[in-house]
Amino acid sequence: MRAVTWQGKRSVSVEEVPDPQIQEPTDAIIKVTTACICGSDLHLYEPLAPFMGAGDVLGHETMGVVQEVGGQTGDLRVGDRVVIPFQIACGHCWMCTRGLPTQCETTQVREHGNGAAIFGYSQLYGQVPGGQAEYLRVPQAQFTHIKVPEGPADDRFVYLSDVLPTAWQGVEYAHVPDEGTVVVLGLGPIGDMAARIAQHRGHRVIGVDLVADRLERSRARGIEVVDLSEHEKDLGDAIRDLTGGRGPDSVVDAVGLEAHGSPVATFAQKAAGLLPDALARPFFQHAAVDRMAALYAAIDIVRRGGTISLSGVYGGAADPMPMVTMFDKQIRMRMGQSNVKHWAPEILPLLVDADPLGVDDFATHRVPLEQAPEMYRKFAEKTDGVVKVQLKP
Ligand SMILES: NC(=O)c1ccc[n+]([C@@H]2O[C@H](COP(=O)([O-])OP(=O)(O)OC[C@H]3O[C@@H](n4cnc5c(N)ncnc54)[C@H](O)[C@@H]3O)[C@@H](O)[C@H]2O)c1
Ligand SMILES: [Zn+2]
Ligand SMILES: [Zn+2]
Repeated sequence: MRAVTWQGKRSVSVEEVPDPQIQEPTDAIIKVTTACICGSDLHLYEPLAPFMGAGDVLGHETMGVVQEVGGQTGDLRVGDRVVIPFQIACGHCWMCTRGLPTQCETTQVREHGNGAAIFGYSQLYGQVPGGQAEYLRVPQAQFTHIKVPEGPADDRFVYLSDVLPTAWQGVEYAHVPDEGTVVVLGLGPIGDMAARIAQHRGHRVIGVDLVADRLERSRARGIEVVDLSEHEKDLGDAIRDLTGGRGPDSVVDAVGLEAHGSPVATFAQKAAGLLPDALARPFFQHAAVDRMAALYAAIDIVRRGGTISLSGVYGGAADPMPMVTMFDKQIRMRMGQSNVKHWAPEILPLLVDADPLGVDDFATHRVPLEQAPEMYRKFAEKTDGVVKVQLKP
């Protein structure tokens, strides 16, 4: 089959790879109809490169049709239309039964001290071949799927794999009070969707980014926006001016470890990139390598006694945090990968009939698999208006 493969730092290519096969009775094979590119894939593109292998198949935002089942796959049937959550989870362990499939004890990648395995997401998450391909092998398929109705285009449902539950969890963990205000840092796919969800719930939402067409995309949906490029030095003051001097109740960080405006860590990430993988891996796991500008901004911006919710991915083991401010301001913080299956039942009703979150025209690009290398490049450079790319194998 054809698949998008990681080849090296900032290099992906579409290659011929072996068709996936059923290996366990709990496996299923799906024929992929849509696979999206995610901001998380960009971390593999550069900072997480030491944990990738040449030829690894990318992609964790997949939907399609069940082609084959292993037998112990519950009520999954050949021909079912399914969205595949980005994390692989069993559904029956202690963590899964408590709504935490990100921590699934059946698929945890213990070798790296990490939570549940993730499709197409480096050795750190199990090196499981991903879904930017014609076919995908789904382990733990009895639970690792969301059945969706026939009829509407894939656009309606494909974001259940990641964007929707991640943005949903981002807003849930932000604990925005009724009549409250939330600032969303970053208006890529995750921040854009988090802003839409918070707005749908009736909160006041202020979005922050520095890419003109992303700011415009949110503004067009009635969200207040602040252009970071005009407030590089005074973002906190600018937000306080908009929020009665006190700051917002909550902040969602939808940026993560590659934030704009962290020169020291940018240098550390580049330095790690110059090391051979065997040295870069421990460096990454023990040093302060995250670009923390967005997280520091969140700590500055949030009101005293407010909540910060991190959707953006962080990876360093020794990042310095301004404890005095966090403690004194009495900040609450929650974070993590999204527990996809936990949130899906709450989100699904918003995807039938009306389209309050605007998923139908959320994608900016729908292209054949073969165009993946060009799309990775444009998404990383934030050119050509690329926000969300759907690959059509
Ligand atoms: N928690 C999860 O389960 C989960 C799932 C998916 C994605 N993510 C993470 O969410 C983050 C966003 O993903 P995305 O797909 O939207 O990616 P993205 O890279 O397109 O979006 C990031 C946005 O942040 C903006 N930005 C950069 N620095 C900023 C700063 N200092 N202040 C404000 N904005 C800034 C960028 O211009 C960009 O628009 C990534 O870190 C991704 O890995 C987490
Ligand atoms: Zn994703
Ligand atoms: Zn489990």
